[in-house]
Amino acid sequence: MRAVDIIHKKRNGGSLTSEELSYLIRGYCHGDIPDYQMSAWAMAVFFRGMNARETADLTLAMAQSGDQVDLSAIQGIKVDKHSTGGVGDKTTLIVGPLVAACGIPVAKMSGKGLGHTGGTIDKLESIAGFQTELTKEQFFSQVNTNGLAVVGQSGNMTPADKKLYALRDVTATVESIPLIASSIMSKKIAAGADAIVLDVKTGSGAFMKTVDEAEVLAQAMVDIGTEVGRQTAALISDMDQPLGYAIGNALEVQEAIDTLHGRGPEDLTRLCVALSAHMVVLGGKADSLEEAELLLRDKLASGEALDKFRALVAAQGGNPAVADDPGLLPQAPVVIPVVAKQGGYVQRIDAEKLGLAAMVLGAGRATKDAAIDYAVGLTLRLKVGDRVHAGDTLAAVHARSDGDIASQVVSRILEAYTISDQEVSVSPLLLSVVT
Ligand code: URA
Repeated sequence: MRAVDIIHKKRNGGSLTSEELSYLIRGYCHGDIPDYQMSAWAMAVFFRGMNARETADLTLAMAQSGDQVDLSAIQGIKVDKHSTGGVGDKTTLIVGPLVAACGIPVAKMSGKGLGHTGGTIDKLESIAGFQTELTKEQFFSQVNTNGLAVVGQSGNMTPADKKLYALRDVTATVESIPLIASSIMSKKIAAGADAIVLDVKTGSGAFMKTVDEAEVLAQAMVDIGTEVGRQTAALISDMDQPLGYAIGNALEVQEAIDTLHGRGPEDLTRLCVALSAHMVVLGGKADSLEEAELLLRDKLASGEALDKFRALVAAQGGNPAVADDPGLLPQAPVVIPVVAKQGGYVQRIDAEKLGLAAMVLGAGRATKDAAIDYAVGLTLRLKVGDRVHAGDTLAAVHARSDGDIASQVVSRILEAYTISDQEVSVSPLLLSVVT
C-alpha cells in the first residue's frame, strides 16, 4: 500500500477501505507517513467527505492508536458525556454527581482548558488539594465505592488524534464534519464507556455556527457510536451566549455548587437535567426521559446530588466543606463592575470575546503548559433579553489587581455586549436531539 494512492483515491471521491485508513493512521503515528501527505489527505477529506462506514473505521483506527481504557472492573453501565466546548460550560461538575446519585457509575476523564474554553480538570483543581491524577486502581475503586471519579486524560490516549488535530489546525482542515466527528468519538471510545451522551453546541461561541451544521455533526457522531456498538445520543444546545453567569475556574465551581443546591441559573440547570436524563435512560435507570427528569429533579431537591459532589471532593483530597462555604474557594482580590453606557435590551453577548477576556485575566492558558489563576474571571449580571438602564452593572471582573489588564478586560466586556432599543426574544437553549 502507498499513501499517495490513498490520497489519489480520496481526491477523486472514492471510499477508503478499513485497511487503507488503518495503514494511514498507523503510518502517520509511526512517522512513516509525513505531514505533507497527511495534510493532502485531510484536504481531500475536507472536500470529498467520508461515508458513515469510513468515518467509523477512521475513528476506530484513531481510538486504537494509543491507550484504551478497560472499564470492565467497574460494575454497571458506564455512560460518558462530552461537550463540543463552550464558554462557561461547567456541566460536568453538575451532571457527574447528579447522574451518580441515580446509581449510574461515572468514570470521567476530562481535559485541561486550552484557549478561550475552560477544562473540567482546571475547574476541579481550583479546589485546594483536589487531585486529578489517580492510579487506575484508585480510579476504579473510587467509582465502585462512591459512584464517581474525575481524572485527567492519560498522556498516551489517541496519539493519532493529537497529531492529526495539530496538523488540521495549521492546514485549514479543522472544519470537516467526518474529521471533527472521528476526533471527538475516538477519544470517547478510547475512554471506554458503554454509552455516550454528546452536547453539541451551536452559535457564535461554538465551532458549529448554525443548528443545521450542528445536527449534521451530531448525526455523524451518533452514527459512529452505533457502528462501533456504543449507544450514543446527542443534544444540540445554544452557545450564542455563555452558559450560566460565571466564567473562570473557581467562579464556575461556585456556580456548579449553587446549581447542585438547587439555586443555580435556569439555563445551566435545564441543560444539566436534559443531558443527565439521556444518561439515565442509556444507563438503564429510567424507561423514558420524562421519568428520568423526575428522578433527577428529586436528586437535586433531596441534596443527594450535592452529597455525591462532597464525596467526590473528599475522595480526591479536597475539603468537602467547600460545598457549603464559598469562602474556601480562591477569591480574586479585586472585583470591578462593568457599567452599561446606554439603556435598552441585551441583544447579544459574544461568548468567544468573553472567554478570551477571562483568558487575558489569567483564567485560561494560551500555551499547553502555562500556569493559570484559579480565582480570576467574570460574572455576568445581565444576559440576552434582559432590560438594561444606563449605569446598570452588566458584569463584574474578578481580577488579581486593578491595573491595565483589568481595564482592558472591562473594554472587552463592553464590546461583547450588544444593546438594542428593541425588546429581544431569547432563542431556546435546547434545540434538538439526535439519536
Ligand atoms: N474537538 C475535538 O476534539 N476535535 C475536533 O476536531 C474539533 C473539536
